[in-house]
Amino acid sequence: MLNFELTQEQKEIKEMALKFAKQEMQPKATEHDQSAKFPIDIFKKAWELGLLNTCIPSEFGGNGFSVVDGTLITECLAYGCMGMNTSIMSNDLALLPIVIGGSKEQKEKFLRPFTESYKIASFCLTEPSNGSDAAGIKTLIKETPDGYIINGEKMWITNAGFADLFVVYCTIDPKLKHKGICAVVIEKGTPGIEIGKAEKKMGHRCSDTRGLRFNNVKIAKNHLLGNLGDGWKIAMKTLDHSRPLIASSAIGGAQCAYEHSIKYAKERIQFDVPIARHQAIQFMIANMAMKIEAARLLTQRAAWMLDHGIKNTEFASMAKAFAADSCMEITTDAVQIFGGYGYSVEYPVEKLMRDAKLIQIYEGTSQIQRMVVAREVLS
Ligand code: CAA
Repeated sequence: MLNFELTQEQKEIKEMALKFAKQEMQPKATEHDQSAKFPIDIFKKAWELGLLNTCIPSEFGGNGFSVVDGTLITECLAYGCMGMNTSIMSNDLALLPIVIGGSKEQKEKFLRPFTESYKIASFCLTEPSNGSDAAGIKTLIKETPDGYIINGEKMWITNAGFADLFVVYCTIDPKLKHKGICAVVIEKGTPGIEIGKAEKKMGHRCSDTRGLRFNNVKIAKNHLLGNLGDGWKIAMKTLDHSRPLIASSAIGGAQCAYEHSIKYAKERIQFDVPIARHQAIQFMIANMAMKIEAARLLTQRAAWMLDHGIKNTEFASMAKAFAADSCMEITTDAVQIFGGYGYSVEYPVEKLMRDAKLIQIYEGTSQIQRMVVAREVLS
């Protein structure tokens, strides 16, 4: 049976998230883009409304959202501001490895505090010399009689300057590639964590992005998720869950650009008629509508599969690549429709185009997603 209807509860969640995006995020999006200031007050309000940490199961104090619910919320928040949404969504990305690979005690210890007060988490996989080739990471984990010692460097870590908790991928030995990877939890304030300067970025400017160093960071045994060497499977499963969320954020940004384009095309007069009457503009708007609908269907299918216990690797990557590339095309066309005004920072669409670019890059580039899809369909 095929059903495209949202449940009453999903409609209400979506309505609440969209209201928050329009009332709290959108009015401040330009200001935070220009100042690159982390909008902590907005995030706290989102947490109070229950819009953060959608992946935490109700057993550990979460709202018990499904993956589809998570995509609905993410799309609305990204409609408000893709940059702010990156920081919000990164909490899910960082907590998912604990949901996926943690024991009951670890979930209680590390997840529950996120439901009791506003907290921030960082997912630390990428390194200065390893982005797409995640299995090549070099951060080392060494076992000691009472725990582990972590040494290494991470790069492009979202939320790093504000995080209360870091989920860090490290390796027993880089020569073991994916078989040596481990996932550990490191809490803020643990001696040896060195937080780098905030990166200045083209878009998503208010989300905090930094490098990190771990210098002889000592953690207890119960900070390792699963066993030594389980980290890779945990990371891959995390990405299967988080890629539909990223795809949703691309759809939210694209929807925003699409709505601005329609409004502007109906108001702007050229050759004595609104430009919406010109076929050149109509075709761009029709393409936007088609891409958004297709991306949303693909994304919700990828999320639905996970909710139903079906392996979704291929669909998660399809959704991420298709939605991110569509968002880039749609926001670029929005700037084109606005013409000279589109290129001005006084109008909203140039920011959307800058923000769209990152979605094609982070959590696996559009090229990596195609590699994953090709491997899945050819295997
Ligand atoms: N689920 C379970 N197992 C999986 C899996 C999945 N989805 N994908 C792969 N595996 C398994 C494979 O079956 C294989 O297992 P065996 O050893 O048993 O055969 C093993 O993992 C190795 O897989 P591959 O051979 O495919 O590994 P690879 O090294 O060739 O390539 C890759 C893997 C898919 C390219 C991976 O490196 C990848 O996804 N790279 C992109 C990294 C990425 O997305 N980084 C994002 C960082 S986070 C970020 O950007 C977010 C932010 O700040 C907001």
